[in-house]
Amino acid sequence: MNPLKIDVISTFPGIVETFAEMGIVGRAFKQNLAQLNVWNLRDYADDRFRHIDDEPYGGGPGMVIKPDPIFRAFDDIRSRYPDEALHTIYLTPQGKPFNQEHAQWLSTQEHLVFLCGRYKGIDQRAREALVDEEFSIGDYVLSGGELAAFVMIDAIIRLLPDATSDGDSVISDTFPFGLLDAPLYTRPAEYRGMQVPEVLLSGNHAEIEKWRLEHRLERTKQRRKDLFEQYMRRLEDRDNEQGQ
Ligand code: ADE
Repeated sequence: MNPLKIDVISTFPGIVETFAEMGIVGRAFKQNLAQLNVWNLRDYADDRFRHIDDEPYGGGPGMVIKPDPIFRAFDDIRSRYPDEALHTIYLTPQGKPFNQEHAQWLSTQEHLVFLCGRYKGIDQRAREALVDEEFSIGDYVLSGGELAAFVMIDAIIRLLPDATSDGDSVISDTFPFGLLDAPLYTRPAEYRGMQVPEVLLSGNHAEIEKWRLEHRLERTKQRRKDLFEQYMRRLEDRDNEQGQ
């Protein structure tokens, strides 16, 4: 399988490069399951002070990243990969909320480009001409898109075949079935007077699965009513389809 190509355009390339060295993501890049290129937006500034921002037309606080450095960074990426389908993502609190399904789909793409904003944001013309999708990682404002890009990159890369030594653990993650994960225990069976639930020690796999599903449902119902209701609706739809 070809490595997933990931390009990140940023004014702080060091942030992205640092994260890219660590953990499962770092290993995936070292093993060439994915390839990372980080582009410094300041390299595309057109003045000797490397300014990439300017005041917003119409006034108001904050600065806006100019279109020219962004378009020229894209020209460079495009010229390096003339025949590839690039899928470009802009990180912004105005984007759609990123979730596991998006991660799943993005992990099957050939080449992702992440455009990280700073200041108030980027010129609208770059958004309209260059960006395929806009994502937010939550309802809060970060000082730049780099951490958001890396949250997404982490979630995507761990889904690549061979990225985790234990592929099964990815399959049983919290979200793939739309439910939160059940409580987890490891040795010892008793710790400071606290016991591991008996059923998990029983070796009875059917009972263990039943226990896990009950706890996933319970946890999801208590903590994420939205996910719980979605799950129940999906079950109902499936039952209706089968009944037809
Ligand atoms: N940039 C700033 N805040 C962000 C957020 N919450 N999600 C994605 N990109 C961002």
